[in-house]
Amino acid sequence: MKKIRMFLLFIFVPFVCLALTVLTADAAKKKKKIPKSPKFVGAAKCDGSCHDPWYQAWLETGHGQSYNLLKPGKRDKAKKKAEALIKEKLVKFGGRDQAYVDGLDVIKADFTKEPLCLRCHTTGFGQSGGFRFKDTKTKKGKVKKKTTIDPEEPSLEQVGCEMCHSVRGGSQFRVLMKNTEGDFTSAQAEKLNKRYDNNTGNVCKRCHEHQNTPFQSSLDHKYKFNFEERKKKVHDFQKYKTEDNRDQVIEKRKDRLTKDPGVTYTKNLVIEEWVIKDAENGKIGWKAKPLTGTSKKGYTLHFQDGSKLNLNDIKADIN
Ligand code: HEC
Ligand code: HEC
Ligand code: HEC
Repeated sequence: MKKIRMFLLFIFVPFVCLALTVLTADAAKKKKKIPKSPKFVGAAKCDGSCHDPWYQAWLETGHGQSYNLLKPGKRDKAKKKAEALIKEKLVKFGGRDQAYVDGLDVIKADFTKEPLCLRCHTTGFGQSGGFRFKDTKTKKGKVKKKTTIDPEEPSLEQVGCEMCHSVRGGSQFRVLMKNTEGDFTSAQAEKLNKRYDNNTGNVCKRCHEHQNTPFQSSLDHKYKFNFEERKKKVHDFQKYKTEDNRDQVIEKRKDRLTKDPGVTYTKNLVIEEWVIKDAENGKIGWKAKPLTGTSKKGYTLHFQDGSKLNLNDIKADIN
């Protein structure tokens, strides 16, 4: 009996302590800190080591190539047909004057520096971390570099994952997903501004049938937005499973939304309303936003029924 006690005291206990220290140190090393404020990071980061089948599928869709439509020589017929509406929207929401649009040839024009178009054809334009077409200076004089376009790896320059899956960028829930290896709750993710109203088609209206788009269903019936039909084409990831990325097909999410719907799954967020205040420098004036606030004061979600929810009030442990 005494021998066993001695063993416990001198060998076993220190061994367990050591093992625990090593284990917790390992866990601490693996867990990354969640950034204080949301920021757009781009599709390539969502691909990373997590969502390759979705990324590969997305690359082949209209969203994965949406920026390219703004170049001259792309969809000439559609641009010609929409000429009057393009000009009308540029004046009404795009910060351009009548003389400017009168002299505009919509077929020859390069719209890749046209803020009105960029808001819906890129990721996070005019917002933190989002696409920029030129270097800008912050109030403190810090230079923010414009996004480098890499045609081999579409990221911020197209309509990326975050335009449907986040309110204001995925920098925060990306860390949560990594830390939990995909085993997170809706409340945890929503607290970090992931949105689930992509399941009702609400988020699509950030662009489709938005009052600012020239491509309205009144112009051509093909622009009418039918969510159930279109949803199927967003990213048909099953086709893009390969030997290399098979392990990235998330299993832990099974039934997440039916058993754990979160708030944005059942309540639609406000859709952005905006005008371009300064077309030369790409400054946006916001009239309505689904998420307001700062990391210091806290962030608030705004719903279409007029209600609000402070993210701090969502009960979820994110650490
Ligand atoms: C145009 C909008 C849109 C874009 C862009 C988009 N998604 Fe999605 N995504 C959806 C919708 C809608 C669903 C739900 C599909 C359904 O219910 O059948 C979804 C579902 C998913 C799911 C399953 C999540 C779950 O919890 O059920 C993953 C993972 C995903 N998307 C990853 C991505 C990645 C990675 C990208 C970028 C490479 C991306 N998505 C781009 C709209 C989008
Ligand atoms: C940030 C803007 C934006 C959002 C948000 C958005 N779309 Fe789109 N969508 C576009 C643009 C731009 C195109 C035009 C692409 C083209 O014609 O090649 C497009 C085209 C499409 C197409 C046709 C693509 C093709 O390959 O033929 C489908 C389908 C579609 N969207 C579905 C959706 C669904 C479903 C949602 C919401 C879950 C959504 N979109 C949200 C901007 C957006
Ligand atoms: C409010 C969002 C929004 C704005 C602003 C916007 N677009 Fe789009 N654009 C879309 C959406 C959504 C589609 C896809 C429509 C569909 O297929 O139903 C689209 C489609 C297109 C297409 C393909 C049309 C076709 O039939 O092939 C072109 C070209 C295009 N946009 C160019 C532009 C240009 C140029 C501007 C700026 C003058 C612009 N867009 C501004 C959202 C927008």
